[in-house]
Amino acid sequence: MRILVLNGPNLGRLGSREPEIYGSATLADVQTLLNGVAGVEAEVRQTDDEAELIRWIHAAVDERTPVVLNPAAFTHYSYGLRDACAMLQGVAPLIELHLSNPHARESFRHTSVISGVATGVIAGFGIAGYRIAAELLRDSE
Ligand code: DQA
Repeated sequence: MRILVLNGPNLGRLGSREPEIYGSATLADVQTLLNGVAGVEAEVRQTDDEAELIRWIHAAVDERTPVVLNPAAFTHYSYGLRDACAMLQGVAPLIELHLSNPHARESFRHTSVISGVATGVIAGFGIAGYRIAAELLRDSE
C-alpha cells in the first residue's frame, strides 16, 4: 500500500537539529527505514510551508491515501492544518507522530490541535515511530 509521510517545519534539519532531543538520523534515514517495511510504499516529504502541507493533506483526502504526519510546531497552533486533517476522517487513517514526547517537554507542547482528528498518536520513540506507524497502517488495511 502507498502511504504519505509528511513532515512539518524544521524537520528538514533532522540529524543536526537539537540531536539530544531528536537524534542524529536524517529524513533520508527515515525513507531508508521505511523502504524496509514490507508491503508499504512510503513517500517521505518535508516542508516548512503551512500552505504546502495543507495542500498535501487535501491531495491525500482526494486520493484516499493513509498519512503519517509529524506536524512539528504546527501541532500546537495550526487550526488550518487541523481542519485539513479533519477531512481525512472516514476517508483514510491519519497517524500523528512525534520523535520526542511533547508531554515531557515545555508546556506549550502539551497541546496538540491535531490529535482530536487523528486516528492515533505515536510519540517519544524517535525514528522507530515511523516504522511502527507504517506497520500499523499496513496491518490495519
Ligand atoms: C516534534 C515536537 C514538536 O513540539 C516540535 O515543534 C517539533 C518536532 C517532534 O517530532 O518531537 O518540531 O513534532
